[in-house]
Amino acid sequence: MAQAIDVLVIAPATANVLAKIAHGEADDFLTTTCLATKAPVILAPAMNVNMWENPATQENLRILRGRGFRFVEPGVGYLACGMMGPGRMAEVEDIARAVYEALALGDDLNGETVLVTAGPTEEPLDAVRFLGNRSSGRMGYALAKASRGRGARVILVSGPAAIEPPQGVLIERVRTTEEMARAVFQYLDASTIVLIAAAVADFRPAALSSQKIKKQSGAQTLDLVPTLDILAEVARRRTRQVVVGFAAETGNLVENARSKLEAKQLDLVVANDVTEPGAGFGTETNIVTLVFPGGRVEKLEKMEKLDVAGRVLDAVVRLKKHREHALSAQSAPAASR
Ligand code: CTP
Repeated sequence: MAQAIDVLVIAPATANVLAKIAHGEADDFLTTTCLATKAPVILAPAMNVNMWENPATQENLRILRGRGFRFVEPGVGYLACGMMGPGRMAEVEDIARAVYEALALGDDLNGETVLVTAGPTEEPLDAVRFLGNRSSGRMGYALAKASRGRGARVILVSGPAAIEPPQGVLIERVRTTEEMARAVFQYLDASTIVLIAAAVADFRPAALSSQKIKKQSGAQTLDLVPTLDILAEVARRRTRQVVVGFAAETGNLVENARSKLEAKQLDLVVANDVTEPGAGFGTETNIVTLVFPGGRVEKLEKMEKLDVAGRVLDAVVRLKKHREHALSAQSAPAASR
């Protein structure tokens, strides 16, 4: 049961329940489920104002916030005990909104077609070997899931990944950079938003041996040739699409991301330092910095990849609105002539 749920909501969350969860207690059905689930947990506290303000409760809240629990803050007003102050459970609409956010649900991408690349690529070397990387595909799959949840039609072009694709997305499975490029360009014209999150090989072996290469004595040299930079080519060929690139860095995060943004003429670069604990390959979480044209930078705290996806899509929606606004402002004087 705890494994099957998508989001756990505790409303009202009493001072007692908060204390038990903060200390990992599991002596009833609710707290046992809470301890056993990996789903996001939303807490809507409700209690007497003195209990709310008690340092013990405030300390428990601090612990829970630090562990990633989500809160729908209590309202201020007359409480059941007759006192006035914070402690009244949040409105149902606010709790529902927190659930939508946790599940990355909404409708602001209705009518959009989102093309996502995800996962690693594999460049074959011989009959049994390939050059690959440690990408799990989680970030790209989270982008696909979040886009679908917000009403978009989604095409997910995925390199070999061992995770389940989200429901309701069209999945194109590929192996090499060349296959990934072919799939991307097949769908580019139909897309309005392109999120290039795959960890693509920059080089492939110059020659592919149909036989397994035999062991030879002494040092060996492998000839490599560059692959196509799919992101750069997408940016070059795009018409109306918003194009978002990713940058996996091991230092000079913002400067490197900014030069990728400028060199490839992108609308947004989502940069992460893969050496930071909790960021990058194979993790459930990510720590990213959004780098926009014109120099604006937004550093996000460590969060689940689905939440990162939500924040990236928020930025895309804002960029699209901005662009539509600019276009209508441009066309307005012409229309009035
Ligand atoms: N990318 C791509 N095709 C490639 C290489 C990279 O589409 N052949 C995309 C990635 O999906 C990512 C972005 O380019 O969105 C940046 O990838 P990254 O590996 O960080 O940067 P590179 O441009 O390859 O530069 P470098 O490896 O030197 O940092």
